[in-house]
Amino acid sequence: MAGLRLVCSLLFCALTPVNSDFVIEGLRKIQKRSTEKPAGDIEVYSVDINSKVTSRFAHNVITSRAVNRGNVSKEVFFNVDLPKSAFISNFSMIIDGVTYTGVIKEKEVAKKQYEKAVSRGQTAGLVKASGRKTEKFTVSVNVASESKVTFELVYEEMLKRHLGKYEFFIKVQPKALVKHYQIDIEIYEPQGISFLNAEASFITNDLLPAIKKSFSGKRGHISFKPTLDQQRSCPNCTSSLMDGDFIVTYDVNRESPGNIQIVNGYFVHYFAPPKLTGVPKNVVYVIDISGSMYGRKMDQTKTALLKILNDTAEHDYFNFVLFSHRITAWRDSMVKATPENMEEAKKFVNQIQASGGTNINDPMLKAIELLNKGYEMKQVPERSASLIILLTDGEANEGESNPSKIQANVKNANNGKYTVYSLAFGHSPDYSFLEKLALENSGVARRIYEDSDADLQLQGFYNEVANPTLVDIKMQYPENAIADVTQNNFKQYFDGSELVVAGRITDNDLNSFAVDVNAEGADQSLKYSENIDLQEKDGVDKNLQYIFGDFIERLWAYITIQQLLEKRIHADPSEKANLTAKALDLSLKFNFVTPLTSMVVTKPEDKEKEEESFIADKFVEGQKDAQPPVSSARYAHYPVSSARYQYAAPSTPSNWVDSDPHFVINVPQKNDALCFNIQEEPGVVLNLIEDKELGIAVNGELTGNKKEENSVLSHETYFGRLGIVNKKNMLRIEVTTETITIMQGKITKIFTWEKKASVKKQGLNLVINKRANVTFTFGEGATFVIILHKAPKDHPLHRDFLGFYTLDDHMFSTEVHGLLGQFFHGIDYEISNIHETKVPNKPDATMKVKNKILTVTRGVQRDYRKDRYNSSEVACWFVHSNGEGLIDGTHTDYIVPDIFSIAD
Ligand SMILES: *[C@@H]1O[C@H](CO)[C@@H](O)[C@H](O)[C@H]1NC(C)=O
Ligand SMILES: *[C@@H]1O[C@H](CO)[C@@H](O)[C@H](O)[C@H]1NC(C)=O
Ligand SMILES: *[C@@H]1O[C@H](CO)[C@@H](O)[C@H](O)[C@H]1NC(C)=O
Ligand SMILES: *[C@@H]1O[C@H](CO)[C@@H](O)[C@H](O)[C@H]1NC(C)=O
Ligand SMILES: *[C@@H]1O[C@H](CO)[C@@H](O)[C@H](O)[C@H]1NC(C)=O
Ligand SMILES: *[C@@H]1O[C@H](CO)[C@@H](O)[C@H](O)[C@H]1NC(C)=O
Ligand SMILES: *[C@@H]1O[C@H](CO)[C@@H](O)[C@H](O)[C@H]1NC(C)=O
Repeated sequence: MAGLRLVCSLLFCALTPVNSDFVIEGLRKIQKRSTEKPAGDIEVYSVDINSKVTSRFAHNVITSRAVNRGNVSKEVFFNVDLPKSAFISNFSMIIDGVTYTGVIKEKEVAKKQYEKAVSRGQTAGLVKASGRKTEKFTVSVNVASESKVTFELVYEEMLKRHLGKYEFFIKVQPKALVKHYQIDIEIYEPQGISFLNAEASFITNDLLPAIKKSFSGKRGHISFKPTLDQQRSCPNCTSSLMDGDFIVTYDVNRESPGNIQIVNGYFVHYFAPPKLTGVPKNVVYVIDISGSMYGRKMDQTKTALLKILNDTAEHDYFNFVLFSHRITAWRDSMVKATPENMEEAKKFVNQIQASGGTNINDPMLKAIELLNKGYEMKQVPERSASLIILLTDGEANEGESNPSKIQANVKNANNGKYTVYSLAFGHSPDYSFLEKLALENSGVARRIYEDSDADLQLQGFYNEVANPTLVDIKMQYPENAIADVTQNNFKQYFDGSELVVAGRITDNDLNSFAVDVNAEGADQSLKYSENIDLQEKDGVDKNLQYIFGDFIERLWAYITIQQLLEKRIHADPSEKANLTAKALDLSLKFNFVTPLTSMVVTKPEDKEKEEESFIADKFVEGQKDAQPPVSSARYAHYPVSSARYQYAAPSTPSNWVDSDPHFVINVPQKNDALCFNIQEEPGVVLNLIEDKELGIAVNGELTGNKKEENSVLSHETYFGRLGIVNKKNMLRIEVTTETITIMQGKITKIFTWEKKASVKKQGLNLVINKRANVTFTFGEGATFVIILHKAPKDHPLHRDFLGFYTLDDHMFSTEVHGLLGQFFHGIDYEISNIHETKVPNKPDATMKVKNKILTVTRGVQRDYRKDRYNSSEVACWFVHSNGEGLIDGTHTDYIVPDIFSIAD
């Protein structure tokens, strides 16, 4: 069920404020950045997206060419968003006529090389998840004055049929006008193309003629070549209107349910029977109603369930098992989807309320029991497909909470009978656990992204499995003549999809190739037979090779690797090693960047003739450590005089205030940071965050050093006391270097730093890590951490103090203000005129921000989040005079009467 459409996207950026999430900018690049002149000295003069789809297998080549017309060398970026389900198979760049090609290596080997490069201060570029369906490939290279660079990325993917069509999705986002921009898609389908559509979200009437589409018989062709004028967002504009999705959909003729193709000793068999009566399905919806589902997630779940009930066929059976720490089955047996029962079910869904803990084990066993009983007592039709759909936004913390025990319990109880789909709502659930739970029970896992369309995502998933028309499908091929066949038994066939099996033919003298498909339909057993005469195979070959010759072999490798990787997830350890070895072998042999391999590109570094390596990894859903470790070198200060650029993934962006209060504002879109200090007297309370709309404020009280009167350092101040107010929940929290006090209405709870503790109540999740930090989460998208700095005991000068960091601020309204809050929705600035001063490595520069011109200085601040004793360094542009010019108003505007102050 995974990735039922091909999604690919291209964005090529140079000089415009780039989406360079994973590439830290060197000073020189910042210097040259200008939003007014997007073309700048770097001109991307050609972007070519070329896709050849042969019998569902898409081979995509993206070529971009740029020239540096400036008189100094410059950084050029190449960013491509490609489908998560695709494998990169090649990358190269040509600079000054020299080609540098990526080499695909075993991940561990590549990692060692990467670490070596990092230790030499050189380092890396990466592939990371970008959108829901895409991952981003990013490369940058320094291009000399008057030189050209060509980037070429190749990736491959099998298009999966979904609801009667194959879909090809290209995200177009060139960010600047491109002289030669072209998308060219050739399709060759041996069964013949039944329809072919191309559309783009950004298309205007003016641009319509630029899309050319034609198809006839087996061939289809789409091309899109907008002229410079067609690309302009308005006449005479220099900005591009091309920002959106280019979508191609098509299907093939279905004269016979199956189709076999054989090329160079490999076969592929596609099976999609014509419209059949649906097989009744029995669905148990196992729905998380624990406290964390409260609010939007629960509302969206209810909306989706109501819609799903509406779409349920009358011959289907269903039931709900709701779980928190308690388990509630709607009915004690499966219920037929009659209009009366539907009305009852809707009433039931409408009254669902979220609260409590999370028990996943027991509701899953309950669902299996309901289906078992359904068949035993003949409550459900004998010929039917049974599914369990689990939706959760968290991890088990009640009942059996050991993930492997839950998996084992479900696997044993289910014993292969029912298909389990697990839906992970948001990023809190343990995706690997849910994935294994599903794969062990012939289903798949999916992520439901927490967003305003989560209900549509849930319905979309349901639609894919809503209409099984065959069950227990067995596909048989000539015995003794084939080997290495991919999965050929399937539990269900869903209307509008397609089953695909590939393998190798071992008998070269085979005259004919026969396939039998046996399956159970709604009311009878069905058999489909297919036979092709291999005598004619030469003719077939020629047509198929027209596009690219070895595609069936690559298609077979692509499917095999994907299936080995899936199997690996639920294999026992001895088997796992073998599956990994096989998948790795194939990945290397066929040159695919898979979760087991990485691509290493060694590029020339400007003049210095030093090598710089970077690697591209495959994104793996739910795997947090899929990327190489973040190097602390990422933040190291780099002097202007050296043309050294650092490449590494940024750590979680955060805004914070720590030490003598140093404020740090991260600017993720620039991969850089701004910083400033506030000098005030001990006892002064400063407002850090204030959001009137949410009713949340954070204030901090300054404290000075001990023995102020005797010390030259006496003007140092720190935060000694922080107050957090949440008006809507009538909540006040005071954090000092001694205690954490929670006040809600008349109830006051006091904790010390000496004990680990956690508090979970409506709208607040608080965790105290003994003598280290306390994290606060208010609903979704507002998470802070306060770090306790302990001064050495009996230090003559220093006291304990607190640091305040935001970990997630996306919940805040546009009204949010305060010394940190005003930056939650981003800040744009421009840096120019970087020049050395008397202080080595601390150049000054001119910053244009909020229509003001400021002189700023490159500096370093410390991030104590990972380790209080051993902070990491963050390079930033320091704004002098209490942040004047950067912050709204002056710093005294942020002084408030007390730590619980909040405006009405
Ligand atoms: C490059 O061009 C700029 C502006 O045209 C000029 O100020 C600068 O001196 C030139 N630099 C070199 C190295 O030629
Ligand atoms: C990768 O691309 C380069 C440059 O086009 C080419 O020379 C090389 O043969 C390609 N490698 C593979 C494995 O296709
Ligand atoms: C575009 O530029 C031309 C020449 O500079 C000018 O004559 C014309 O009026 C401009 N059109 C618009 C819509 O600004
Ligand atoms: C269910 O279907 C009925 C009739 O088709 C429609 O009036 C109603 O709005 C639908 N409800 C939902 C939740 O889609
Ligand atoms: C996997 O196991 C099979 C049989 O146990 C063996 O023949 C094969 O060589 C192994 N493959 C790898 C790559 O280790
Ligand atoms: C909080 O402290 C714990 C325990 O020392 C540590 O593991 C964790 O990384 C800290 N979290 C933050 C965000 O500083
Ligand atoms: C701090 O981190 C560095 C690099 O990770 C390490 O070499 C050093 O030993 C650490 N120091 C302390 C005091 O933990």
